[in-house]
Amino acid sequence: MRTEPHVLDHPLIQHKLTLLRKRETSTASFRRLLTEIGALMAYDVLRDAPLHDVAIETPLETMVGRLIDGKKVVFVPILRAGLGLLDGFLGVVPAARVGHIGVYRDPATLRAVEYYFKMPGEMPERDAVVLDPMLATGHSAVAAIARLKQTRPRSIRFVCIVAAPEGLRALQEAHSDVPIHTAAIDRQLNDHGYILPGLGDAGDRIFGTK
Ligand code: URA
Repeated sequence: MRTEPHVLDHPLIQHKLTLLRKRETSTASFRRLLTEIGALMAYDVLRDAPLHDVAIETPLETMVGRLIDGKKVVFVPILRAGLGLLDGFLGVVPAARVGHIGVYRDPATLRAVEYYFKMPGEMPERDAVVLDPMLATGHSAVAAIARLKQTRPRSIRFVCIVAAPEGLRALQEAHSDVPIHTAAIDRQLNDHGYILPGLGDAGDRIFGTK
């Protein structure tokens, strides 16, 4: 059974996404907008984060409050573009752990090739949030999540900014148990695997490498 993607159509996210897409947006602004969108998306992505009770003292009396166990959250950017979302997520969960998955797209086949993988220990106690701004063919996300599942995290979510229908289908078919959070679903892929209308090459725009 496929789960429908969570499309985060909050006006603040849509506003920032429109600025992000614009050709003339500078590298500095692109980075800042992506960080801001990440922080706003974290609000929805972590909606079901487990809370535990803690006894605290307010200036007036004691009470039982509730806290997220941030150390149990692992943000997993898919290198390199996923790094653009990391600061926004860490801004709201500073104690989270960070794992990295390096996957590149073979330009000829558009297939995903893994070149780096490093997770924190005790993954079965942790909730993983995989970050990649663009869900295009879905090959990288499918491969990254398959690899991540070998570490048996307690849960996995996938977060992107722009998804192509082709990538959504591929990810839903391969990992129907992984909820997908996106800010937009665009029209289609072009012949080179870029999303239309999209925002171009996210990695190049984050790092100014074009
Ligand atoms: N990766 C990108 O950075 N942009 C796309 O449009 C597709 C994949």
